Amino acid sequence: MSWIFAAVPAIALLVWALLHMRKIEPERVEITQRNLVYENLPPELDGVTLCHVSDLHITADPRNSAAVADAIRSVKADLYVLTGDMIHGPRGIGALAKWLDQLGDSLAPAIAILGNAEHKARINTPALIRELEARSIRVLVNETAVVPLGRGELQVVGLDDPHSGHSRPALAFADADPEKWTLVLVHSPEGILDLDGRRADLVLAGHTHGGQILLPGIGWLSDNTHNSVGLISGWYDRHDLAVKAGTHHGPKGLYVSRGLGTSGWPLRLRCRPELALLTLCRE
Ligand SMILES: [Fe+2]
Repeated sequence: MSWIFAAVPAIALLVWALLHMRKIEPERVEITQRNLVYENLPPELDGVTLCHVSDLHITADPRNSAAVADAIRSVKADLYVLTGDMIHGPRGIGALAKWLDQLGDSLAPAIAILGNAEHKARINTPALIRELEARSIRVLVNETAVVPLGRGELQVVGLDDPHSGHSRPALAFADADPEKWTLVLVHSPEGILDLDGRRADLVLAGHTHGGQILLPGIGWLSDNTHNSVGLISGWYDRHDLAVKAGTHHGPKGLYVSRGLGTSGWPLRLRCRPELALLTLCRE
């Protein structure tokens, strides 16, 4: 019977770990703030702040959506950028619409792109886009937009999801002016491998969830990409991207969000949900 007493601490630790991963860590949204310095930034965009909202994975089962809404209400940005995987499952569309209605102006103005979750079977993607656009969130599907921002405007190229094979860079950049400072939105960081030297001053991506579960001494087990190049979370400059991804005329910079929701197992470990505030600066 002594083995039973020996097992009690291990079982208690396991229960505590599961509780932490399921109920506690997903609720502890970290607001990260970073200045991104670009000498070539147009003066009228100097000081504007982007709020990077990625991988919400809103479901009918609310998971951590209330904590995420609280985090969004606590910040102020000039533009909110949703980089895909907004929903999780077909019932996520209605849940997302309701969640957006509760947020109201706290998530405005906003622009969005699609992730692989929006292309899964049984997802009515056009219906999702209609729900977003009914709430003044423009959805860029392999297209370019010029949005009012700061004292001027910002060119934004929105790619559809590369992870599920929907990205069409040639189409997305067809109307882009290569002389303009350009923000590129793509759900998965592997999308930078398809840019083929097209102008991308800043790329915002998500999808990896930062690994979601970081095991002590091991780290992340998967970045959930087909072309795993270790772009797991945080900031990568052109040099980092050249080393890791072999992009020699690639983006000037890439920010990969750890995301806000969870996919697969609804667990997080040593990888808190992230709401990133990125301020563009000239110096
Ligand atoms: Fe994804």
